[in-house]
Amino acid sequence: MEVSLQSFRKRYTYDSQKDLLGKGGFGEVYKAYDNEDKIFVALKMTQNIANSKYNLIDEIKRFKKLNHPNIINHIEAYEVNTGSSDIHGVPIVYHVGVLEFADQGTLADLLKEKNASPRIVEDIAEDIINGLAYLHTQNIIHRDLKPSNILLFAEGEKIRAKITDFGIAKQADATAVSTQLIGTVEYMAPEFFSTGNITTSADVWSLGVMLIEAFTGLHPFGKTSDGLSNEQIIGNILTKDLSHISDGIQAPYKDIVTRCLLREISIRPANANEIKGLIATPQDAFSEKTQLISHTSIPSNTLGSTPAGGNKWFNFFNKNSNFENSGFGNDLKQFYFNSQYTKWFIIWIVINIFFLLLGKSNHIKLDVFIPFLNDLEDYDIKILFSI
Ligand SMILES: Nc1ncnc2c1ncn2[C@@H]1O[C@H](COP(=O)(O)OP(=O)(O)O)[C@@H](O)[C@H]1O
Ligand SMILES: [Mg+2]
Repeated sequence: MEVSLQSFRKRYTYDSQKDLLGKGGFGEVYKAYDNEDKIFVALKMTQNIANSKYNLIDEIKRFKKLNHPNIINHIEAYEVNTGSSDIHGVPIVYHVGVLEFADQGTLADLLKEKNASPRIVEDIAEDIINGLAYLHTQNIIHRDLKPSNILLFAEGEKIRAKITDFGIAKQADATAVSTQLIGTVEYMAPEFFSTGNITTSADVWSLGVMLIEAFTGLHPFGKTSDGLSNEQIIGNILTKDLSHISDGIQAPYKDIVTRCLLREISIRPANANEIKGLIATPQDAFSEKTQLISHTSIPSNTLGSTPAGGNKWFNFFNKNSNFENSGFGNDLKQFYFNSQYTKWFIIWIVINIFFLLLGKSNHIKLDVFIPFLNDLEDYDIKILFSI
């Protein structure tokens, strides 16, 4: 939409010094008050340079249709005609994107402060994964995922994260091979430097790098701000030993970052939806699986004697056992062990009473039974019990 400088300035109030939020590769971002809608917004602006490859209006228009709680909302795009012209007589026009305003800065700011609790980092991680999964479902490759492109919002006690900066994002099927190096080297997947074939899986790699940085405070391949050259960082991305890459990270993210940082694209998750599936597996399901395995791993001849209703001895001694509900192999073995001796003890008493009734005083001692018990196989015991 084309607007005059006058009407633009009437609608948005900001101070070009105090309200500067960030300066990126393509322009500046300001915090402004929208006098019409009565909300704070972020204004992303660039001076429109003729023949520039980057066009902010196109960026906003293309991504305005995106609608997800973890993707920044692109509200409007304006072409602001200043009414004046440059030294060549070319009209000076600004492109302005209006975005929802993130009141908690970026993930990069948060990581600099070094005081984010693991709980907050986990919430942020989950939000980024959800937002990225949505982008990948829309067939969009972000190509520049990094902490300064993750915006944070306060929501009650929680911090919510949204992905922003679609300046170099691409439709996954638009161009298969990228010949230009764009984006930030530190977070780039190895294929940027080899085949140039960039797919949604390249975003999965960047996600892994970001998660390691967020959870450990350390950048796995080093940063230019730590004094490393781009060549050194690229060398690390291509060859650094990754076997300890997830040290110090808790489940399920330990497994997630290991998978994100697989250099071989064919085995790395193809998109963030696959990662989403990995966090969706709750801890309970893991323990359920473990129980199932231990249950079925009990030899069938042991289990075979214990079905409810199948064995009167078992039922008699098992009235208070919750075997049916427990599902635990160890519980079952414990019960089985106890019930064996209870049963033999009662048999021993019965035999003693039998001999007493017969008037014989030399009753059979328990230790007569012990070696006999040891020689018995489970199977024999089963038969004995079911007599
Ligand atoms: N909606 C927003 N709310 C608050 N701050 C923002 C917003 N958008 C951008 N910023 C700030 O401006 C910086 C640059 O914006 P970004 O969209 O990433 O542009 P660039 O392409 O220049 O990197 C961000 O890193 C962030 O600090
Ligand atoms: Mg950016």
